[in-house]
Amino acid sequence: MGIAPAADWEHDLASVLLTEEQIQARVAEMAAELADEYRDKHPLLIGVLKGSIVFLSDLMRRLCFPLEIDLVCCSSYGHSSESSGEVRLRLDLSKELAGRHVLLVEDIVDTGLTLSRLCDLLRERQPASLKVCCLLSKPSRREVDMQPDYVGFEIPDEFVVGYGLDYAERYRWLPHVAVVKPEAYR
Ligand code: IMP
Repeated sequence: MGIAPAADWEHDLASVLLTEEQIQARVAEMAAELADEYRDKHPLLIGVLKGSIVFLSDLMRRLCFPLEIDLVCCSSYGHSSESSGEVRLRLDLSKELAGRHVLLVEDIVDTGLTLSRLCDLLRERQPASLKVCCLLSKPSRREVDMQPDYVGFEIPDEFVVGYGLDYAERYRWLPHVAVVKPEAYR
């Protein structure tokens, strides 16, 4: 029996950066850390659409205490792989934040512009506390002072997809995180 040829989409991907097993193990560790801080606070977890949905759903199922979730959608990238630097709210929250312990759940912090702007907007609504939890962070790309409170993995300056992250809406479904070949998006 011969080796199956690679599917078309696989040619866009250079390598697997984080396996499904590595991600799941780290999400479990992060949930344990979050439980220490939030167990008695009935927190509101806010997922930033669309990239955080896989991370948010895995994370919240490992937090075995009462919590609520909400979703927000910002636009900044469109179909490019570079941030435009402009952040707009395209879908607002359905819940009040005043007095709540809020944890923003994000897929990746790159330049930091999106989260920095979003945190400013949310702080105006006077939550009791506001912290940021991201699966991935690219510290070498930071353009503003944005240090997430909880970070799954620090990664190099490469464009990655999978586990909710996309390139032009593709690859979100991958259970692992893969590096995209630069020639695929240039
Ligand atoms: P920032 O404002 O530059 O920090 O960008 C944050 C947003 O950019 C993330 O929520 C992602 O939607 C997107 N992004 C940044 N880097 C990547 C990447 O490597 N793959 C997929 N999306 C990315």
